[in-house]
Amino acid sequence: MAQTTGLSRFLNIPDLDKAVPDMVNCNMLSVTMMTQIVLPQMVARRKGIIINLSSELGRHPAPLAVLYGATKAFVDFFSRGLEAEYRSRGIIVQSVLPLLVSTNMTFNVAPNRFVKSAEDYAREALNTVGLTSRTSGCLSHAIKAFFCDLLLPEWFRLSSFGFKLQTNLWRRMKDTVAVSKRK
Ligand SMILES: NC(=O)c1ccc[n+]([C@@H]2O[C@H](COP(=O)([O-])OP(=O)(O)OC[C@H]3O[C@@H](n4cnc5c(N)ncnc54)[C@H](OP(=O)(O)O)[C@@H]3O)[C@@H](O)[C@H]2O)c1
Repeated sequence: MAQTTGLSRFLNIPDLDKAVPDMVNCNMLSVTMMTQIVLPQMVARRKGIIINLSSELGRHPAPLAVLYGATKAFVDFFSRGLEAEYRSRGIIVQSVLPLLVSTNMTFNVAPNRFVKSAEDYAREALNTVGLTSRTSGCLSHAIKAFFCDLLLPEWFRLSSFGFKLQTNLWRRMKDTVAVSKRK
C-alpha cells in the first residue's frame, strides 16, 4: 500500500489502479476506522486525545500531489469536525499539518532550514496538544505556511503560471533530495 505517490500528474501516477485504493485505505479509511475503534472508550471515560496527521498539502488543492493532498484534506476536515462534535465530551482531537519532516517518506533528507528532524518536530508538535486543535506542528512550519499563503495565494498556485512555477520548484527539490541521498 502507498502512503504517497511522489509528484506527478494524476494519470502519470505509477500503477494508478492500485495507487488509488491504496492511498484511500492508508490515509483515509485507516483514520476513520481507528477512530471508530478508540472513540467509544474515550467517550465512556470522558477523556482522550486523538492526534491525526494531515499535511500542509491538504490545506489547499495540491497540483502534482492531488491524490495525496485530497486524502490529507479529508484527514483535516474529519478531525476538525470530530473535535467540534466531541470537545464537550472531554475529547481532544488535533489536526496536525506538517510541511517537510525528515522521515522515510521524505527519503530521510538531512534536516535543514526547510526540513525539520522527526524528533524535533514531534517534540514541538506534542507541546501544542491541548492548546490548539489545528496546527502546523512547529513554529518554523507555521511561519512558512503563513508566508506561503500570503505570497502564493491559492488562486495563484492554481493558475497556469503558478502551476509551472510549482513544477519547477518541485523538480529542484527532487534534485536536492537526490543529491542529499547520494552524499
Ligand atoms: N514527513 C513529512 O514531511 C510529512 C509531511 C506532511 C505530512 N506527513 C504525514 O505524517 C504521517 C507520518 O509520516 P512519516 O513522515 O513519519 O512517514 P514514515 O517515516 O514513512 O512513516 C510512516 C509510517 O506509516 C506506516 N505505513 C506506511 N504505509 C502504510 C500502510 N499502507 N499501512 C500501514 N502502515 C503504513 C509505516 O510503516 P513501515 O515502517 O512498516 O513502512 C511507518 O511506520 C503520514 O500520515 C504523512 O502523510 C509527513
